[in-house]
Amino acid sequence: MHTFPLVYLNGEFVPPERATISAFDRGFIFGDGVYEVIPVYGRRLFRLAHHLARLERSLAEIRLRNPLDFAGWQRVVERLVREVAAEDQSIYVQITRGVAPRDHAFPADARPTVFAYAQPASYPTAELMASGVAAVTAADIRWLRCDIKATALLANVMLRQQAVERGAAEAILIRDGLVTEGAASNVFVVRDGVLHTPPNGPFILPGITRDLVLELAHAHGIPAREAPLPESALYEAEEIWLTSSMREVLPVTRLNDRPVGNGRPGPWHARMLALYQDYKQAFREGRVE
Ligand code: PDD
Repeated sequence: MHTFPLVYLNGEFVPPERATISAFDRGFIFGDGVYEVIPVYGRRLFRLAHHLARLERSLAEIRLRNPLDFAGWQRVVERLVREVAAEDQSIYVQITRGVAPRDHAFPADARPTVFAYAQPASYPTAELMASGVAAVTAADIRWLRCDIKATALLANVMLRQQAVERGAAEAILIRDGLVTEGAASNVFVVRDGVLHTPPNGPFILPGITRDLVLELAHAHGIPAREAPLPESALYEAEEIWLTSSMREVLPVTRLNDRPVGNGRPGPWHARMLALYQDYKQAFREGRVE
């Protein structure tokens, strides 16, 4: 059973069972597409402009024209949100290079496939924030354009599965001795009262939640550094956090079966979580965009 009455597909709002695409869609054949996941709090789209700007960038990087302008996307996603009963939701948006005979090179005249839906979402509970999660480290076996939010996620899928099979919620990825990010999250380390996170670039997704955490840190005088982060920093960390649209700012309390710090979420996490929750509350009430 679907928890969403309507989805958007190629200009139409249709029931999910009528949202069908061709088996020759390049999204299916090659994973030739990009996507976004946008949080919805109190029926309002969180950081919509940031997500649409990143979508625009992903599309430009794979040389696909954005099928809708800002107002067009806004109309689509707002309509999807209205259709779902829950106050808190998430939006998924995907654009592929469309339907064409199988050939790696771009088709001359394919029309992009545009798909979006909203669904009820549960964000981390106070209990989960208080207990934290386990993570494991794994070799970053992905490609060199992790800055593109590509739907081709085979490596991420395999890495997350590896984590789950080791009893962990996330894999923290290591490339050439440096931390990159999680299988579907960005990584922060706290040491001596300073937040550390790897810099944006080809090896990580420029996370919207990562940006917000850095913004909040800056606004509240919490020192933060965006610099290459050696794997050893993980083992010396007082705190480790994962950030993503769906997991917000989640503390990692065990890494590779050993406690992080004293094995409980730390004081810097408590502080950042409070700032994040205040920001969300202000957003729900329409006090911030
Ligand atoms: N993933 N890095 C990767 C590889 C991700 O897949 C994600 C998010 C992030 C965090 O980005 P943001 O803060 O903008 O959500 C970092 C989404 C939620 C997903 O694939 O479901």
